[in-house]
Amino acid sequence: MSQHLFLPVVIMVVSPIPGAFQDSVVSPTQGEFEDVDCGRPEPSSRIVGGSDAQPGTWPWQVSLHQGGGHICGGSLIAPSWVLSAAHCFVTNGTLEPADELSVLLGVHSQDGPLEGAHMRSVATILIPDNYSTVEMGADLALLRLASPAKLGPSVRPVCLPRASHLFAHGTACWATGWGDVQEAVPLPLPWVLQEVELRLLGEAACQCLYSRPGPFNLTFQLLPGMLCAGYPEGRRDTCQGDSGGPLVCEDGGRWFLAGITSFGFGCGRRNRPGVFTAVAPYESWIRKHVMDSEPGPAFPRQLQKPQSGPWEPREENCTFAQPECGKAPRPGTWPWEAQVMVPGSTPCYGALVSDRWVLAPASCFLDFPTQQPRTSDSSPHDFETWRVLLPSRPEEERVARLVAHENASRDFASDLALLQLRTRVNLTAAPSAVCLPHGEHYFLPGSHCRLARWGRGELARGSSAQLEAQLLNSWWCHCLYGRQGESVPRPGELPHWLCPAYQEEEEAGICWKDSGWSLLCREEGTWFLAGYRTLSNGCLRPRAFFPMQTHGLWIQHVTQGASLEDQLTWDWGPEGEETEKQTCPTGTEHGACGLRPKSTPAGVLWPWLTEVHVTGDRVCTGILVAPGWVLAATHCILRLGSTTVPYIEVYLGRAGVSSLPQGHQVTSAPPLLCQMEEGPWVLAGMAVRGSRELFAAIGPEATWISQTVGEAHFLHLGGSSYWSPEGSDLCPQDLAGSASSPKVTALLLLLLLALLIPR
Ligand code: ARG
Repeated sequence: MSQHLFLPVVIMVVSPIPGAFQDSVVSPTQGEFEDVDCGRPEPSSRIVGGSDAQPGTWPWQVSLHQGGGHICGGSLIAPSWVLSAAHCFVTNGTLEPADELSVLLGVHSQDGPLEGAHMRSVATILIPDNYSTVEMGADLALLRLASPAKLGPSVRPVCLPRASHLFAHGTACWATGWGDVQEAVPLPLPWVLQEVELRLLGEAACQCLYSRPGPFNLTFQLLPGMLCAGYPEGRRDTCQGDSGGPLVCEDGGRWFLAGITSFGFGCGRRNRPGVFTAVAPYESWIRKHVMDSEPGPAFPRQLQKPQSGPWEPREENCTFAQPECGKAPRPGTWPWEAQVMVPGSTPCYGALVSDRWVLAPASCFLDFPTQQPRTSDSSPHDFETWRVLLPSRPEEERVARLVAHENASRDFASDLALLQLRTRVNLTAAPSAVCLPHGEHYFLPGSHCRLARWGRGELARGSSAQLEAQLLNSWWCHCLYGRQGESVPRPGELPHWLCPAYQEEEEAGICWKDSGWSLLCREEGTWFLAGYRTLSNGCLRPRAFFPMQTHGLWIQHVTQGASLEDQLTWDWGPEGEETEKQTCPTGTEHGACGLRPKSTPAGVLWPWLTEVHVTGDRVCTGILVAPGWVLAATHCILRLGSTTVPYIEVYLGRAGVSSLPQGHQVTSAPPLLCQMEEGPWVLAGMAVRGSRELFAAIGPEATWISQTVGEAHFLHLGGSSYWSPEGSDLCPQDLAGSASSPKVTALLLLLLLALLIPR
């Protein structure tokens, strides 16, 4: 350590830290400071959720450039030394050469002429021996500049904490940088340095937050030498590009480098505060390397000793922040439902996604397919007459701006527009915002969902707003709409489609051809806007919805604060979801016909149909294929993810007569029967999960069935000699033929009857 005394110092206590610490303020004497003066911005004077810094506020902030662009932040700690993060310079375990780096000092806006700024090249990069990856800690680096920085009002070093320096949790500190302002949203021009106030979180509180599965279902072990800062509710944080930059806390009018931006899980997410490298524990490592420098960094003594140390639990009980979006006490009455009224047309339904933005189909406002906007994006006058109605708000909201998705008029999967309201609405129980999924969200098969009005969708006659739905397995959904040989997106990958099975429509026997719908899915009581569709694809089931998660980044980019929320349910059941790569087999694409169920004339029994009662409360269709065997759909008999066989009773000879207990008038998983020219009916398919009109072919299972049930009779459907009962919809060739999905095997099961009741 150098004994060199630099500038005399006058102590000024700026904004004393409240209450508890005031008693312990010690008046320092001049002699207690070493080396260069540190931690004082000269003038009196994003990062996520931050704001533009004033020039000169953070004079130790440097920008590290490589290949002509900003890569990381850093802090000037002495005229020739910068402290940054190791991970900025290590790629695949190898340290990058120092000569490719340059340090930009005294810069405020990184756009245009860098007035008052100067550049230094880097002579050496030093990294702790035990650094391997950010999650393992020791994420710091010392950069020795090729020549000393020119100190001035906008270039000054920060103070370094001694190993004994205690930063009490709860202390408000500041992080700065030119990093992203939202996940994957770069800082916009003119690239002005961002600052954000972050509170130090105690080790226990931080560990507690990170122990709860959150984004990507990951938990994380906080290690010694790490420090957390941020808020359980998220929103304010550092982000990509801020790494290596400072987290500074004030003590007696000086700013100390408490932490170095290291990593986080996403940016600004709930219960995922930023993780920093704690600087104090590295006092001796820093001193050892900068020992020979004149002047070296300054390690002023701490003035305000916190009464409770950072490791003593105080207010350390962990309270998880709960989602602030997606709360609907009564499903069906959606507090985010927004009605956009444009003069001359019927209301357009959308969803409130933040206190200022409504998401709705662009086709409500743009003329398709001419691509002629009904209202241009640029002229605000057009919005004068527009109104938005929100639940529980007597006044109508005015519209300030319309931002249509850039592909809105070309591609129906991007049929989205965001409407900015003139004034922010106060989010309460109603109106409130719906949650939006991040790109990696995986809505589990079997998730409880509901359909809600979307666009110019009108509720069909006789239907309620309570349309319940259940998400189908992604394999079925993808392969029915995808192509042969295509791989099925895995959990965490962007899905191409979301397919719900919705019972109400099924049971009413209606097909709502031209309605727009949004798909809301619930996780732990929180509703997500999972998908949407404005275009009808006829009555083919299951219906495919465009996944909203594809557009998370665009929405985030435009709204800068829509409620993107992490996945809340990760319970994949005892077996979990298959995660190995799956591809779509032949014969799956639109591999079934949209036949309407045949209405059975009263009194006519289908003698081979059976009612399979599962644990007394579910009724599936079974088909008697031999005296002792009934064939049924697996999904109807076995619960999702369950491997235990439930209690099953089979009733023969009464399907088709209304003798079912109340509330079970409809059986699930009906079969598709085709009549041969002269008379016999052949079982051609079984309805796929969630559908009463889309069938999986039986043909490919003939071998399995005949091997299991020796006495089963097989008749071959051939040529064009089979026809549907209505005569209009023909069963397609491959349905009865042999080319179909090997996956179908898993969807049928045979029940061996214990007791055969002869009729
Ligand atoms: N590793 C990032 C970088 O290289 C910093 C990320 C900080 N993230 C956070 N959520 N605090 O710039």
